[in-house]
Amino acid sequence: MNDKMKTFDDLQVRRGELAAGYIGLLNAQPGRPLAMFAPRRVGKTFFLDHDLAPAAVEAGLLPVYADLWIQKANPLEAINHALEEALDDVNVPSSRVGRIGRTPVKKLGLIGASVDLGDAPARRPLPAPPQLRLDALVVRLAQAARKPVLLMLDEVQTLGDLTGGDSVVAALRAVLHKRRDILKSVFTGSSQEGLARMLSTAGAPMYQFAQLLDFPVLGDDYLRQLADHFATVHPGKSLALDDLRRLYLRIGSKPGLLKDVVKAMSAEGTTDVDLGVKHFLVTQEGIWAALLQPFEAFDRAVLLAIAKGLPPMGKETLDALASAQPGQPTVAKVRAASDRLRRAGLVTKAVGGPILIEDPLLAEYLQGDGRGLRLS
Ligand SMILES: Nc1ncnc2c1ncn2[C@@H]1O[C@H](COP(=O)(O)OP(=O)(O)O)[C@@H](O)[C@H]1O
Ligand SMILES: [Mg+2]
Repeated sequence: MNDKMKTFDDLQVRRGELAAGYIGLLNAQPGRPLAMFAPRRVGKTFFLDHDLAPAAVEAGLLPVYADLWIQKANPLEAINHALEEALDDVNVPSSRVGRIGRTPVKKLGLIGASVDLGDAPARRPLPAPPQLRLDALVVRLAQAARKPVLLMLDEVQTLGDLTGGDSVVAALRAVLHKRRDILKSVFTGSSQEGLARMLSTAGAPMYQFAQLLDFPVLGDDYLRQLADHFATVHPGKSLALDDLRRLYLRIGSKPGLLKDVVKAMSAEGTTDVDLGVKHFLVTQEGIWAALLQPFEAFDRAVLLAIAKGLPPMGKETLDALASAQPGQPTVAKVRAASDRLRRAGLVTKAVGGPILIEDPLLAEYLQGDGRGLRLS
């Protein structure tokens, strides 16, 4: 691509070596899934898509992706659907020529109007119960593709929050074990606590069964690309790498967020990172307001308490919350509120650690005067 036509959105860090390392781990431990953990928006999905899937293909595997966060209500169906789609792709190549090549052609009309593609190969229908269907689909897909399947399950901690989530985990675990010759799996999770909860719902063995990995965040490579591109767009101006790094850490090592701030700086032609963040926060205000709007005043007050670093169940917090709702707030109400905030991805908790605002910029904003958000 011509450098001049490039935009900030085209900048990419590819991590082929990391991906190849993960494939190596999978191959060395048949039946044992990898569970990569990292906070939201640091690049897990991007990595699955751009690095791990190609590395899997390279290694002779068929990658299949399912996002359990988007399909919260029905995770097993979501996985089965992804496998079915993959099976369709293998069985029905998109071009007509491919089709003709695959099934015996019974009759070819001279004018081409009556091309009969022959009978689709008859097969027993797939079993209806989702657990059995999962197993049958894996087998069929691996047979049809003539290669093992790599099942990539994104945001798998969602299962830990779901009623009946443990039976999904149990089904997955059983299939992963039974089909270890033809099935490999990688999980991602953006909540360390959620991932641990999800893995332990299936009992201790699942904990040992999956290998937990800390997924590494992007480093200076990406910062350099941003600075280089900034310099191309603004000849004579340059972003100091140290400033960028400071900002990157401040926002929780989230490359997309960093890019957005740098884009805003680029639009204003400023190289002052602090000014850039200040302006960016103003544009974010409306987005956050919309995000928080559906929550009750009480939940928003709990969010504010968390942002201010108050232990949410502490007496000081309960006293402060008393003003946000009639009657004395109870620990149970606060817990329910922080659960709602957690499920919405607004707050997060590390195992044994404190509960925190997921987005460090939102935290900063709430710790300030929180203009315009009217939290209570
Ligand atoms: N390797 C990368 N190179 C460039 N940008 C990236 C890379 N990884 C992530 N990003 C940016 O960060 C954003 C969030 O990444 P994503 O993979 O969706 O995070 P996660 O899945 O961890 O929540 C992406 O939309 C993209 O803009
Ligand atoms: Mg993701």
